[in-house]
Amino acid sequence: MAEQPQAIYLKDYQVPAYLIDETELHFSLGEDHTEVRSVLKMRRNPESTASSAALELHGHESLELCRLAIDGRELGAGDYRREDETLGIDQVPEAFTLECLTRIRPRDNTALEGLYLSDGMYCTQCEAEGFRRITFYLDRPDVMSVFTTTVEADAARYPVLLSNGNPVARGSDEDKGRHWVTWQDPFPKPAYLFALVAGDLAHIERPYSTASGREVMLRIYAERKDLDKLDHAMDSLVKAMRWDEEVYGREYDLDIYMIVAVDFFNMGAMENKGLNIFNTSCVLASPETTTDGAFQRVEGVVAHEYFHNWSGNRVTCRDWFQLSLKEGFTVFRDAEFSADMNSRTVKRVEDVTLLRTAQFAEDAGPMAHPVRPASFIEISNFYTLTVYEKGAEVVRMIHTLLGPELFRKGSDLYFERHDGQAVTTDDFVRAMEEVSGRDLTQFRRWYDQAGTPRLEVSDDYDADSGRYRLHLAQSCPATPGQEQKLPFHIPVTLGLLGPDGRDLILDNGDTSCVLELTDSSQTFTFEGIAARPVPSLLRGFSAPVKLQYPLDRQTLVFLMSHDSDGFNRWDAGQRLAIDVIGELMAQHNAGEPMRLDAALTDAFAAVLDDESLDPAMVAKVLTLPSEAYLSELADCIDVDAIHAARQFAKKALAQALAERFERRYRALAPQQAYAPDAAQVARRSLRNLCLSYLVALETPEYLALAQAQYDSADNMTDRQSALSLIAHSGATDAAAAVLDDFYRRYADQTLVVNQWLSVQAGDPRPGALDRVKELMQHEAFDLRNPNKVRSLISVFCNLNAVNFHAADGSGYDFLAERIIDMNRRNPQMASRLLTPLTRWRKYDAARQALMQSQLRRILDSGELSKDVYEVVSKSLA
Ligand code: TRP
Ligand code: ZN
Repeated sequence: MAEQPQAIYLKDYQVPAYLIDETELHFSLGEDHTEVRSVLKMRRNPESTASSAALELHGHESLELCRLAIDGRELGAGDYRREDETLGIDQVPEAFTLECLTRIRPRDNTALEGLYLSDGMYCTQCEAEGFRRITFYLDRPDVMSVFTTTVEADAARYPVLLSNGNPVARGSDEDKGRHWVTWQDPFPKPAYLFALVAGDLAHIERPYSTASGREVMLRIYAERKDLDKLDHAMDSLVKAMRWDEEVYGREYDLDIYMIVAVDFFNMGAMENKGLNIFNTSCVLASPETTTDGAFQRVEGVVAHEYFHNWSGNRVTCRDWFQLSLKEGFTVFRDAEFSADMNSRTVKRVEDVTLLRTAQFAEDAGPMAHPVRPASFIEISNFYTLTVYEKGAEVVRMIHTLLGPELFRKGSDLYFERHDGQAVTTDDFVRAMEEVSGRDLTQFRRWYDQAGTPRLEVSDDYDADSGRYRLHLAQSCPATPGQEQKLPFHIPVTLGLLGPDGRDLILDNGDTSCVLELTDSSQTFTFEGIAARPVPSLLRGFSAPVKLQYPLDRQTLVFLMSHDSDGFNRWDAGQRLAIDVIGELMAQHNAGEPMRLDAALTDAFAAVLDDESLDPAMVAKVLTLPSEAYLSELADCIDVDAIHAARQFAKKALAQALAERFERRYRALAPQQAYAPDAAQVARRSLRNLCLSYLVALETPEYLALAQAQYDSADNMTDRQSALSLIAHSGATDAAAAVLDDFYRRYADQTLVVNQWLSVQAGDPRPGALDRVKELMQHEAFDLRNPNKVRSLISVFCNLNAVNFHAADGSGYDFLAERIIDMNRRNPQMASRLLTPLTRWRKYDAARQALMQSQLRRILDSGELSKDVYEVVSKSLA
């Protein structure tokens, strides 16, 4: 192999040798290529200690350099060095103007980084290091500059020309049919927040006055055909703006705020200053085409990107190791927003489910890394669940330790002190320390140590003295490069339930308290306890740890019905189900008939009968732990036993509770016109869950019920649930017919067609891989579109375990082929696709060998992108 990509290290950080005070850009968009002219006002950084006066600019190998000049003097080929990713100039003055003309080819840009075409419209994606594919620059977040951008293009094809900030001038050259607009962004920003859009776009708009009375215009742009699907995003944006004013005291700062929806996008959305660019899947919503889950995702992502205006843009990251500074904090902010807009407990259950299923698995795999990584080969590989979701948990723990008032004071101090700066996670923690007078030195280990800590709990009670003692012990497994871990500072929110199921009043006068575990083991003593209590540990999931406190099924049922903490009530139900499914797996593997413990049936019956409970929470409680979560919990994943046991449990519950499921199904029938509000979402979620149990019985009667729901649904939530239930049932004719019907109805709705692909990719019955291969040839599929790749290929490989992990290795072979094919075209996508293969250590010896051999095949397949190289090489190490 050629030269192997090298890692870069946080410890090697140095301030930039040069700064860019002003950036002037001129884009001339052409059919064949685009010319980018830049004028950069640069000067030596007074804080730099670098001895040489050399200037090193970033620039991707795809840049065609046409002209380079310093202070008006053109440089010859001998005056600079062009390397793979940089352009070096040995001698530059203290302060100077650098002019640069480059030529780029957006039409050929399949990586979707830098400037590219999405369905005929130009757009950019510059985070993390995409700007260097546009022009030569200091493409690092601690170089902040004010930008003036002129976009010039064919007036007929690209009537809308957008960039960051405010439009300040425009003009046209009628003879040539071209026009231009100049945009000015007064806020200094790093290049990763630069954005440009050009296309034939329609928009909606809404005026907004901020808390202090400033007038702002909000605009959301999309292709004309999608204009009717933008209202929900606009409503969400307005809610997010109000919420940030009320909860964090943060206002918007430009005169316009724009969102543009694009169909080709590697991630969910991007917070470019004043000009967010969104994956259509995170903006467009209408009752006829969008499920409740997707409505809520739009609300959450719109809020997330909006919140970045403060936590990310006004205060940004010093370097990419600090990524969680903006992402962890912003995920925490958007989660709290969603909790306030909808059901707090439901939101917490969803977030913790994602964390425990996917982030814990990441922590246990070869790509495990701390919230603040110490090194990386390719930063795009570190936009992970660890940086985002665990990073948000770390912020949440600070919130728990300080309480809401001090946390708000800390965030005020952080924003005030660092406005306009590029800072570190340490700066964030320091602000929290200063307002609270607390020492968070040990707490900082959450940023630096990878892995999921284990929290082992035991207790004893002495009736004579009325003394109850809790013994907490922590440990953390080794992760790559980190053999030994030091104890974490773990906030354990605790309640004690008396024998009647009521909370005891604790010494703080409250029903909950926060125990702070800082040693490897500690004992906490409670006096004056009249009878042995049942502890409710980690209420609200107060720390991202694996709790080990064995409870018998009876006690779990007790917690399920009595715990005053909604999250722990749900969690007790999950633990009960996990325990029962584990028993079924053992029976299955022993060749015995499986028999479901009635404890689970009875507990589910009680929850179903209790009409006082929030239907959304009932749906969560009655949802069996996913195969993915059961896999994460296993030491060695037995794909088939997990599937068989879970399916059996589902069917047995359906048999035992059919009458109840049917009764609630009917009682929850829609009473009003569709709205994606919390109350209706709750009803639909429980109703569709009831239907899923009924269809598990595979009787003609219940299949007909699903078919009737499919036919009469006035919204996508109900139609889609019915579709996937029928499509995954044993009724093959009905399945084929309903899939055909669905495609015919929605063939012109890209996002709906993507759901249609996903339903088929997720079909657990045999033959799914062949179907996926067929669908890759279907007109609805496009390998260059990440949403389609995710809908078909990622869903198959991540959510269809029995088929992907087929013992003959066909699933692995298929995935390796896709990755090799995608490696050059779109490295970020290719690298993300790898995830399921990186988990090979968790499978049996035969599967391990098959997965490893596919990883080696990828490694040997030719010139790998840094993205793919990093993940494959670390997985095999
Ligand atoms: N900053 C974006 C967010 O979390 C993430 C993002 C969008 C991104 N597009 C990307 C990261 C492309 C890497 C590459 O809101
Ligand atoms: Zn973000």
